[in-house]
Amino acid sequence: MKKYRIGIVGATGAVGQEIINLLEKREFPVAEARLLASSRSAGREIQACGNLEVVQETTPESFKNLDIAIFSAGSSNTQEFAEIARRNDCVVIDNSSAFRMEKDVPLVIPEINGDALESHKGIIANPNCSTAVALMALFPLHKRFGLKRFFASTYQAVSGAGAEGVTELEDQVKSKITGQTTEAKSDPVFQHPIAFNLIPHIDDFREDGYTKEELKMRNETKKILGLPSLQVSCTCVRVPVYRAHSISINAEFDSPVNVPDARTALENFNGIELWDLPNALRYPMPINYSEKELCGVGRLRLDHGFSNGLALWTVGDQLWKGAALNAVQIAEELINRKCLKNL
Ligand SMILES: NC(=O)c1ccc[n+]([C@@H]2O[C@H](COP(=O)([O-])OP(=O)(O)OC[C@H]3O[C@@H](n4cnc5c(N)ncnc54)[C@H](OP(=O)(O)O)[C@@H]3O)[C@@H](O)[C@H]2O)c1
Repeated sequence: MKKYRIGIVGATGAVGQEIINLLEKREFPVAEARLLASSRSAGREIQACGNLEVVQETTPESFKNLDIAIFSAGSSNTQEFAEIARRNDCVVIDNSSAFRMEKDVPLVIPEINGDALESHKGIIANPNCSTAVALMALFPLHKRFGLKRFFASTYQAVSGAGAEGVTELEDQVKSKITGQTTEAKSDPVFQHPIAFNLIPHIDDFREDGYTKEELKMRNETKKILGLPSLQVSCTCVRVPVYRAHSISINAEFDSPVNVPDARTALENFNGIELWDLPNALRYPMPINYSEKELCGVGRLRLDHGFSNGLALWTVGDQLWKGAALNAVQIAEELINRKCLKNL
């Protein structure tokens, strides 16, 4: 079997670590795993794909003789290096928002629009984490009933803000419980306390009162589903949960809806599981969907706020389906579709 040389940019971060885990777990055919990060981590040793690898500082030279580079290092670092990688015949799969809305860059969830990979030009974008989880639930319903508009309220875990977000929640919880005050950080991840709190604000505010994170749900959904006039309204909230994002969705459809057909559509879609037995207190929760490849859907019911409406609750591991897993699935799909071509 052919094996591939993979660069992991941001290998020391929350997403990068999961990419390493998933390459191993899914037995991705790895010939070389090149671990790249900033100069801060250069020299660190990390076990990856059966070998102890030394983390290297990312430089323009890092992309020579690689087949694929998966970037999880923030938009500005991707912008600095992605074009260099592409020119070295190394296909880029990017977890940041740097290229998602570029016309020539496919924005892909393999179960939904994997065919968009066929026309890639060397850079492929991974969607925003909440958008990926929401669309895994909405897409099969869209195929069955035709999506007209939806409202989403997100409950986003602290690991969505990177490894530092988890440390900050942990430190605050410890200090609240022990009563020991810790020194205030000069540059905190969250602008308000996150322990025993929630923050209705992720990313910068725009002039219209929405945040950039909320805009991603709207714009990326339209691009992935190929529905430019879809109406989407979203409120994004950070919650003191370590891992897995939850989303409450109220959606209106073109055709009349009913719960049994909606259940069948969801049950037959790869990548999600219907976990919906209210009387047995069975509904998806972050604690059950961390380190799980499937996203969970529950609380499915008619939405009485619309004529053809459904209300639902979905949960997915944003470090996996919202980032690392989706990126590894894209790499697998490039190989399956034989479109990991040298450009
Ligand atoms: N966390 C999530 O759930 C999630 C979901 C979807 C998308 N994303 C996106 O994925 C990216 C990474 O997020 P994360 O949560 O993994 O963040 P993180 O835990 O803060 O990790 C950031 C990574 O980027 C590396 N890095 C920083 N500056 C660099 C540079 N100049 N050159 C090369 N590498 C550099 C860091 O290396 P050092 O250790 O050397 O600093 C670290 O490996 C972001 O773009 C984020 O928006 C995250």
